[in-house]
Amino acid sequence: MKIAIILGTRPEIIKMSPIIREFERSYNDYFILHTGQHYSYEMDKVFFEQLELPEPKYNLKVGSGSHGEQTGKMLIGIERVLKQENPDLVLVVGDTNTVLAGALTAAKLGIKIGHVEAGLRSYDKQMPEEINRVLTDHCSDYLFAPTEKSKQILVSEGIPENKIFVTGNTIVDAVYQNIELAHRKANILDRLNLERNSYFLATVHRQENVDDKIRFRNILEGLQKVSKIFGYPVFLVIHPRAKKQMNIFGLKPSGLNLIEPLDYLNFLNLEANARLVLTDSGGVQEEACILRVPCVTLRYNTERPETLEVGANILAGTNPDEIVKKTEYMLSRKREWINPFGDGKAGIRIVHILKNELIESLKYKRGVDLWI
Ligand code: UD1
Ligand code: UDP
Repeated sequence: MKIAIILGTRPEIIKMSPIIREFERSYNDYFILHTGQHYSYEMDKVFFEQLELPEPKYNLKVGSGSHGEQTGKMLIGIERVLKQENPDLVLVVGDTNTVLAGALTAAKLGIKIGHVEAGLRSYDKQMPEEINRVLTDHCSDYLFAPTEKSKQILVSEGIPENKIFVTGNTIVDAVYQNIELAHRKANILDRLNLERNSYFLATVHRQENVDDKIRFRNILEGLQKVSKIFGYPVFLVIHPRAKKQMNIFGLKPSGLNLIEPLDYLNFLNLEANARLVLTDSGGVQEEACILRVPCVTLRYNTERPETLEVGANILAGTNPDEIVKKTEYMLSRKREWINPFGDGKAGIRIVHILKNELIESLKYKRGVDLWI
């Protein structure tokens, strides 16, 4: 029973890490295929090193490009590897082009698919991620929904209930497995000369935000305004897409502290100690909720409605005055919500389910073969 883990970007490495750790501990018939969607050291290798993950057996080195070019190259490369390795299952997490390419290639080859973080919906088809997650869910055999809500979404779309498993989100596992280490080992607060709760942390990288000059400029203006009005310095950790777009648009935000992407322990530490987080990232919305740091989301929708419901997060969109208003509201909130994303054992649960379910389905396959 061989499993192929396919990943390619920063959040996939982080969210897959608890599953990889569990495979390393209890099951070794698996391998990692990296598409190379992310390739800069600080977006990729740093996480393998810091989280002590085994090196991928394959790296397709697909790199950056238009959606079609990037996804097409992945399909070709993944097919070659899957034909050679002939795994029983492909496992993917999230909603990137890597995830869609992994799932689609497996589906075409008749290989079973497990989708971790299934059932998330923003209902915004302008987002490339929404297309990726819907298509991946609908060709998957094992759908690991983080919450009961995501399960109900899948059921409402006609996916049979027996394919869906509510496991919690592996990001909780990743936070719990690393937060103590982050507090002990990270030196980012010293490096930036910061006290706990004395600054805002911001990240922005969504295509619909940073590839649109007006939206991007508005977000930066919103961040400048909240810094001035509430008296907290803003540290904007700058994703490579945002950096590239900032240069293309000639945006030079004054009054903000721009920092390069951080390793996981330093980022977690900076996030956990922030007074408030402003972000358009999916993973950062979840982590802020888990770490009880109020979050203002720089988007008009979220596929993480659980964070809104528990009162950990609010949608501000990209208008500067709305960002100020929503920041003021979140600063007034008590940090006592309950984490809706599980108990930190999602990785163990997923590996356990895969082992049991796959063994059953293989028994059945062999029975049928014998019968024929
Ligand atoms: C991708 C995912 C997005 C996810 C994000 C996580 C898709 C459609 N998008 O967006 O869902 O939230 O990853 O961070 O799959 N670049 C580098 N170094 C790298 C990678 C990218 O410099 O290692 C730069 C390149 O200029 C590239 C740009 O970032 O053109 C965008 O990279 P890409 O992988 O296309 O999309 P992301 O914005 O990273
Ligand atoms: N992250 C990190 N260093 C950074 C910024 C983010 O380690 O400088 C981590 C963060 O803790 C979270 C994940 O990257 O686990 C989120 O990734 P990203 O925002 O790129 O993608 P998304 O979650 O929106 O798909």
